[in-house]
Amino acid sequence: MIKRSVLTIVFVMLFSHGFSQDFTALAPTPPMGWNSWNRFGCDVDENMIMEMADAMAVNGMKDAGYEYIVIDDCWQVARDSAGNIVPDPERFPSGMKYLADYIHEKGLKFGIYSCAGSRTCQGKPGSRGYQFQDARQYAVWGVDYLKYDWCSNEGQNAEAAYKTMSDALKVCGRPIIFSICEWGESEPWKWAKNVGHLWRTTPDIRNIYEAEINWGGLGIVNIIDQQADLWRYAGPGHWNDPDMLEVGNPGLTEDENITHFSMWAMLSAPLMAGNDLRDMDKDVLEILTNPEVIALNQDPLGNQAIRFLDMGDHEIWVKLLENDELAVCFMNRSQDDWKLKYDWKRINIYHKGAINFSKQNYTIRDLWQHKQLGETEDILKSVIPSHGVLLVHLKMKDK
Ligand code: GLA
Repeated sequence: MIKRSVLTIVFVMLFSHGFSQDFTALAPTPPMGWNSWNRFGCDVDENMIMEMADAMAVNGMKDAGYEYIVIDDCWQVARDSAGNIVPDPERFPSGMKYLADYIHEKGLKFGIYSCAGSRTCQGKPGSRGYQFQDARQYAVWGVDYLKYDWCSNEGQNAEAAYKTMSDALKVCGRPIIFSICEWGESEPWKWAKNVGHLWRTTPDIRNIYEAEINWGGLGIVNIIDQQADLWRYAGPGHWNDPDMLEVGNPGLTEDENITHFSMWAMLSAPLMAGNDLRDMDKDVLEILTNPEVIALNQDPLGNQAIRFLDMGDHEIWVKLLENDELAVCFMNRSQDDWKLKYDWKRINIYHKGAINFSKQNYTIRDLWQHKQLGETEDILKSVIPSHGVLLVHLKMKDK
């Protein structure tokens, strides 16, 4: 009897250890995909979701690394008499398993949304009290990603509430990425590393360049400002999430889209597209699938960029990459062109060690023009448009 219970304990320990290892290994680099909210809000249905999967599979996004198709709020309408969550029968008549299978057949993964409160932000049933039942249901459907919101939280402790759902996912029998959407209220970067794979750091993003409107949402650069001090909390398996992309949605100019995408790449942010993938300009697709910019976002070291120089309207951000390479983003927040003349040798970069451009020469590559721009021993000259960036990749010359 004693022997058997010891064996059971050992078995459970081995099993749960193996499973939680799988859990932390699920997002070694920032997740990439698409989410319905920014463009469609509550107007979601299975045909539209399948069309997004169709588009992603063939338009170059899947080849560029995009993987998850996530339905945000409003897919769920009730609980049945056994407490099971019920998808909207009019909008999702074929059910969630059918949708998951369809998406998996395209070589993509399937994500869903719920909330730690008893109601979602749009008043649909949340999962408070049903966490383990819901997680098991997601596993049966074939869900690979859960975004978990914080409306109607009824004063719960955030860490405990998210840990409950995390525990439920860890034992549901299927690896599921856990995307914490608590808007940064209780500084999840300090406690969520082993709870989820990514955590929102701010209120919702808006498709505007600059506007500090807090609960009505934040502009792109206001969100960027709020990431500057968080670099130490990001790394493989656990990412700061400055919210989903607005690239391609009305409201941003082409330069602003480029800045938005460049900076999300620099910040090692999850790249969740939020536009209509079925109907996209060539320019927008080129931004979302730029392989050189995606490579720096997906760099295996998982370093989040630091704001190395803040000169008001002009900023310089640096992200350390593997093989002693680095990415540098010159960001122009002003209304005017930035006539850049940058002497690399005048100032060392001190971050996890020192980069001394007087001692070491680097080649410079422009990641939007896809061309070499000389070397760091020379002065870099460029005209950066209003609200635009110059994004470069540096490699040691003699390496
Ligand atoms: C919150 C989240 C958004 C979105 C909506 C859905 O506002 O922060 O990203 O999921 O809820 O209602």
